Amino acid sequence: MELPNIKILDEKNKILRTVSKEVVFPLDKEMKDTIYDMIKYLKMSQNEKYEKKYKLRAGMGLAMIQIGIPLRIFVIANENEDHTFEEHIIINPTILSESEEMIYVGEGEGCLSVNRPVDGIVPRHARINVEYYDIDGNKQKIRVREDIAIAFQHEIDHLNGILFVDKIDPKDPFKGKDLMREI
Ligand code: NI
Repeated sequence: MELPNIKILDEKNKILRTVSKEVVFPLDKEMKDTIYDMIKYLKMSQNEKYEKKYKLRAGMGLAMIQIGIPLRIFVIANENEDHTFEEHIIINPTILSESEEMIYVGEGEGCLSVNRPVDGIVPRHARINVEYYDIDGNKQKIRVREDIAIAFQHEIDHLNGILFVDKIDPKDPFKGKDLMREI
């Protein structure tokens, strides 16, 4: 398998601070191909062989702004235990509701645009309901929880020019730890 021609911007690039624009449908073939390339990239990044071959970092989510296109689109690809992938293509998302319960990733969140180790807690809702459009422009609803809910919130932040590192208090990176559940 060949690695798609995708260049992921580093956090130093100010383009990542752009608030992405709503997508107007229909998407053209080029845009659809870019979306499928983003998913392919994520899947390959989670495969040990390709990780080594192409010196990739494993990632499960990617927002279009991370490849320099300021549109409200993100993709998720997360390998299940049976080696199938849970995949999502999410366009123009709106969070309809959020759980009161908060969670955080114990080992710390990661981002393909943040190429340095970052310690600290990023508070996230344990469950969220999201309305969005699929790749064909049909309105959909989804309820996500746990790691997928965190990925959705991380990627929606990207659409608003926000990086996970912004949500960590540098003076007290583990603030609020006892009020949240670690996953
Ligand atoms: Ni990210």
